[in-house]
Amino acid sequence: MRIIKAKDYDDMSRKAAAVISSQVTLKPDSVLGLATGSTVEGLYKELVKLFNQGTLDFSQVRSVNLDEYVGLPPDHDQSYNYFMKTNLFSKINIDEANTNLPNGLARDSDLECKRYDKIIDGFGQMDLQLLGLGNNGHIGFNEPSDTFMTNTHCVELTDETIESNARFFSDKSQVPKKALTMGIKGITQAKIVLLCVSGTHKAEALKNVLAGPVTPQIQGSILQMHPNLVVVADKDALSKLQTS
Ligand code: GLP
Repeated sequence: MRIIKAKDYDDMSRKAAAVISSQVTLKPDSVLGLATGSTVEGLYKELVKLFNQGTLDFSQVRSVNLDEYVGLPPDHDQSYNYFMKTNLFSKINIDEANTNLPNGLARDSDLECKRYDKIIDGFGQMDLQLLGLGNNGHIGFNEPSDTFMTNTHCVELTDETIESNARFFSDKSQVPKKALTMGIKGITQAKIVLLCVSGTHKAEALKNVLAGPVTPQIQGSILQMHPNLVVVADKDALSKLQTS
């Protein structure tokens, strides 16, 4: 595991963008696992900047997103489809036909999860999986549980997650109760896992993920077993960990 220390959110965003930028430069047809959330907004802005400067070319990149809310249409401003379009896809030269997200409107979520796993399996191995971290240590929407779910699945969101994501909706009752999420196998099969964390409110979760026991109650703790985990975290997020 490598921990790259950042001064603050902006520094984390620049450093994480540099990791993705190197990946795409070294392998222009990289398969990127992408994430949503406020943590990665700044990093996507940095990637857009690099694209506009002519430094990065996404024309051959393929992408697979982690998750999507059940019940939100792709044009809903809180859907993860919408997030990806507005924060990244519409601002770079990625071919949208090469981007993938779960369909939150699928009538049969089991079938949709199978369809999604086929896409993931079809890529063989992702080159890099980008992750944010939930306040309860979740990755994607893999919520605390008695087991690690390997495949893409439909998950009931915990009250804690609903509460913490309510800030993006007009009120808590508008937050979907379910989501489709890539499972732990899909996430951890990537050659590189890039975990980005910012802020004191994530410090406890990050400590549990990196230095606590590996347990499905803290789903991100499985990342300790990954051979190539890169953590880019700011000072505040690292404040409960002893790092040299
Ligand atoms: C959501 C997403 C996660 C994300 C997490 C943290 O629940 N499913 O993929 O990492 O929240 O979000 P934020 O970056 O907004 O704190």
